[in-house]
Amino acid sequence: MMVPLIKDLLTMAASDSPEVTVRGWVRSVRNMATVCFVTVNDGSSLEGIQCTTDTQQSELKTGSSVVIRGRLIPSLASGQTVEVQIEELTVIGEAPPDYPLQKKRHSFEFLREIAHLRARTNTFGALTRISNRLSFAVHEFFQKNGFQHIHTPIITTSDTEGAGALFQVTTLDMERRPFVPDYSQDFFGKKTFLTVSGQLEAESYATALSRVYTFGPTFRAEHSNTTRHLAEFWMIEPEVAFADLNDNAALAEDFLHYLFATILRDCESDLAFFEKNIEKAILATVQQVADSSFSRISYTDAVKELEKQNHFTFKPFWGCDLQTEHERFLTEQVAQGPVIVTDYPKDIKAFYMKLNDDQKTVRAMDVLVPRLGEIIGGAQREDNVERLERRIRESGLNRGSYAWYVDLRRFGTVPHSGFGVGFERLVQYITGMQNIRDVIPYPRAAGYANF
Ligand code: 4AD
Ligand code: MG
Repeated sequence: MMVPLIKDLLTMAASDSPEVTVRGWVRSVRNMATVCFVTVNDGSSLEGIQCTTDTQQSELKTGSSVVIRGRLIPSLASGQTVEVQIEELTVIGEAPPDYPLQKKRHSFEFLREIAHLRARTNTFGALTRISNRLSFAVHEFFQKNGFQHIHTPIITTSDTEGAGALFQVTTLDMERRPFVPDYSQDFFGKKTFLTVSGQLEAESYATALSRVYTFGPTFRAEHSNTTRHLAEFWMIEPEVAFADLNDNAALAEDFLHYLFATILRDCESDLAFFEKNIEKAILATVQQVADSSFSRISYTDAVKELEKQNHFTFKPFWGCDLQTEHERFLTEQVAQGPVIVTDYPKDIKAFYMKLNDDQKTVRAMDVLVPRLGEIIGGAQREDNVERLERRIRESGLNRGSYAWYVDLRRFGTVPHSGFGVGFERLVQYITGMQNIRDVIPYPRAAGYANF
């Protein structure tokens, strides 16, 4: 049996002053004339526990790891019902005065440089607990709804999104000069990459197990140096057989409702921390997504709305990729809430999306939310062999690599749909953090791979 964590101690009754053990890292030491207060945090909750003793602790330093034995007594401190009266305090590992996390506020830029220690701050503790709950909620939602969880490969031979933002995987000696790659001599005997999405493989399992999802790392060598892009991020991708775009949109809406409601219910104090310290309107934003039904609008109608405006930096026109400013306008001003934009021009979307009868648009959908823009991208998949083959040809993709994918349409094809959502985008949205590099433990982005 594990000993109680600080979060458990904080909810215990002090009435019979039970003997307890506190293990964690010292957040602060306050030596007063007759009493000394030591606050210890073990990451199990935002609050640390206050421990008191009448002996001065002048040698005890912030950041040190300690084990404290004592009695739980009613607390006079505000915000806490119990505290620990210290009987024995043992320092396990000292933290000398150059411990970088002294009791002042640090910038996120500085904390990124000490990513190995930043988990000990309130912000990163709260982020980690929210991420943990969110990740569990993802599995809960799908498991409750009959989905099977699958692990799609990380090393792949095909480019799902066709965007060319692939990292190559090789064991060839690139430093050899002159470097003339012979991929038949490479580890796999061919060119391979890190996956940008598990979708194509998920489709093969959806056309056997009906409802599946994958939740794994994805990699994109995009040079977008923004506060919303990572080169390595985790993507959640459900895929459903016998489902069209409407079913897909309904699933995305139910999914976000479930996640946001769960976080509101189970991460109250951590969310309140973000509301107080990071982003004032975050609770209202999360609540709005949890409560509102999502509107729907076609890309064509969305562009008509955008064309009525003249304040955009990038002037929108039918056929253009929607920019963040456009997406935000659609969700914040037009829909005044989450909105699902459907049926985009085929030329700006991936090859696998189902062609509409107009031959110009595809059954794509992006879910847009206030303050962010795109949070989810998905589509109904092309389920007709000839049309899929034509799209692969037109997109200039290597037909051989996609033969297995075309097979899914040759053998018992079925309408099917799915979507993808970046896990870190979700965490960033829910917490109101400015930079996506601060919601993943060790961020990787263009020109940035420390630790
Ligand atoms: O819109 P995307 O590119 O769609 C796909 O990859 C499809 N294969 C998904 C599917 O239908 N199964 O990416 C999906 C989501 C985006 O909406 C965004 O939330 C996130 O993945 N995303 C990123 N998150 C962080 N950093 C990046 N560089 C991201 N690129 C996409
Ligand atoms: Mg997208």
